[in-house]
Amino acid sequence: MGTIAVYPGSFDPITNGHLDVIRRATKMFDRVYVAVARNAEKTPLFSVAERVALAKQSMRGWPRVVVDDFEGLLVRYARRVGARVVIRGLRAVSDFEFEFQMALMNRRLDPAIETIFLMPKDEYTFLSSRVVKEVAGLGGDVSSFVPRIVESALCQKLGVRRKGGV
Ligand code: PNS
Repeated sequence: MGTIAVYPGSFDPITNGHLDVIRRATKMFDRVYVAVARNAEKTPLFSVAERVALAKQSMRGWPRVVVDDFEGLLVRYARRVGARVVIRGLRAVSDFEFEFQMALMNRRLDPAIETIFLMPKDEYTFLSSRVVKEVAGLGGDVSSFVPRIVESALCQKLGVRRKGGV
């Protein structure tokens, strides 16, 4: 069956930082489930279907990646798809506390599932979906932070004109 990992998140929307982590994960695992959480954030900008579609379009042709969504406990989802590993990106010390808590809670819930942290390229250290939404909403150029399809979706959703790209 090969090695399977789950990379869960809100992905509201997917950014180049997420894509960098996924690319690294695909070098380590035979299959990586990019799993969009249905219940992570109460007021997301994009619907689950939109987030899944943007992730799929951003990774068209990538081998070993499956984009999916899940509801409820992450460890249950991981078990269901046969994954023993949960991947999370770690950008800075500020991420650590929440990630530490989540990893240990998931371990308590299912000791067979291990969390592995991957660090994105240093140029993405400052990047987050929240900041990208804020910059895009204020009319800033986000073309180097997200795939073009996501930039277009952001501008459409937020009612602003595209700033960057070709
Ligand atoms: O991109 P995010 O918002 O940091 O992702 C958080 C996410 C979706 C990974 C986390 O909220 C999650 O795993 N939710 C599923 C519910 C769950 O299993 N909770 C227990 C672990 S703390």
